[in-house]
Amino acid sequence: MAGNRTLAIIKPDAFGSGKAGKIIAHLEAQGFTLICARVLHMSKAEAGAFYEVHKGRPFYGELVEFMSSGPCMPMVLQKDDAVSAYRAAIGATDPAEAAEGTVRKLYAESKGRNAVHGSDSDENARHEGMFFFGADALI
Ligand code: CMP
Repeated sequence: MAGNRTLAIIKPDAFGSGKAGKIIAHLEAQGFTLICARVLHMSKAEAGAFYEVHKGRPFYGELVEFMSSGPCMPMVLQKDDAVSAYRAAIGATDPAEAAEGTVRKLYAESKGRNAVHGSDSDENARHEGMFFFGADALI
């Protein structure tokens, strides 16, 4: 059964340019409930660990630099079928390919500086929720 919660991050580009409130309001208007959130400035080691699955890919170094370049805002969101509903709400990784009205179409700058992250499966949502919030956040 698809889970009701997912892990989202408002990335340093969007957080640093004051878009967090607009992005949260946009998601709440689409039926997502904010369960928990925090603001942190990740070290390179933390950003590298979070994105370890991408280690070895050509964009990994750039991704780690960017995600440790300023504060970001991880949060747990709730909605039926949360992972796929949230991925639909944020749009394609590259804002140039994102559908109208999606978070990345509205607020992202580029494929690398793309405003938000979202878990891509229920299993990864649990893993990523654990990374920022401990064991209970995705229950
Ligand atoms: P995210 O959903 O956070 O998951 C991995 C991130 O890697 C992705 O969003 C992009 O921001 C980033 N990414 C993926 N492909 C590229 C690329 N070709 N160049 C730079 N960054 C990328």
